[in-house]
Amino acid sequence: MLKQVVRLLMAALYVSIPYAATAAERVVDPVASWNKHFKTWAVVSIVVYLVVTIPLIYFVFKYKRKRKDENGAYIVGNTAIEILWTVVPMIIIIMLGAQSWAVFNDLRDVPKDHIEVKAVGFMYGFEMYSPEGIKTINELRVPVGNVKVNLTSKDVIHDFALPAFRTREDMVPGENTYLWFAAKEPGEYPVYCAEYCGAGHSQMLAKVIVMKQDDYDAWVKKQKGDSEMASLTPETKGKDLVERLGCLGCHSITGETKAGPALNGIIGKSEELEDGTKVAIDEAFVKEKIADPKAKPIKGFGHMMPPNMLAKEEYEAIAAYLKTTK
Ligand code: CUA
Repeated sequence: MLKQVVRLLMAALYVSIPYAATAAERVVDPVASWNKHFKTWAVVSIVVYLVVTIPLIYFVFKYKRKRKDENGAYIVGNTAIEILWTVVPMIIIIMLGAQSWAVFNDLRDVPKDHIEVKAVGFMYGFEMYSPEGIKTINELRVPVGNVKVNLTSKDVIHDFALPAFRTREDMVPGENTYLWFAAKEPGEYPVYCAEYCGAGHSQMLAKVIVMKQDDYDAWVKKQKGDSEMASLTPETKGKDLVERLGCLGCHSITGETKAGPALNGIIGKSEELEDGTKVAIDEAFVKEKIADPKAKPIKGFGHMMPPNMLAKEEYEAIAAYLKTTK
């Protein structure tokens, strides 16, 4: 009997060798191998489900007790059947395991030709850094090709999920993790946070924008030009800052209350603080609030806002922009 089991195990290994072999090679498209893997699991699950359920329903009717004094057959055991239902699932599991291992390797091994970008999670949004050091919020622009994304977090654990590329990875504060994907077609692909991280978790939405190399180069050139352009008005600078710093993850400028109060028309209003005092929202308050949000918490909004140390002109620009909003 032992011999029989060993022989079957060897057969199972032999069947899974092709999968193990792909795992050793460099596979360029994890999406394809993931899809294939998903199909295999789906087929196996459905077959196993039917093999169990159909006889189950049939036996429920066939062996239903028909008379009150009827006794069921007393079955002690059946070695052949027990070996069968141990070995067959074992083979299936070894095969699925080998294939999972192959997909796992595809997802972890970054091909040699790749560009490297960085994404940092925060409550509630993603900071992205291009290889040229251009920072964007909730938008990652990459040229067509393989992209390695280095991940970390500023505060709590987030998860960078890219459903179109069948990959995701946790963003852990104080730790560096990564994922990679093959950007083949120009277009926009959704990114979302897949780890519950607080009140604004569901608002952590972003996108990957895959561009043709020429378009990407033009974008990089324009971004660099823009940052050197000092001729912007304070209002435009302020609008740009509010967008780039990720303020809109928690504050709307359209009037609705998100994790934080709406920002439009807020300058000139008065708000109640947690300790009951009333404050007038003016430029000085805006500056203080951005630099040290916990100093004067507004009633009903908790203490989630992270501090941001900015230059004096930047605080002024934000206040100038907020004044233009109604
Ligand atoms: Cu960040 Cu959920």
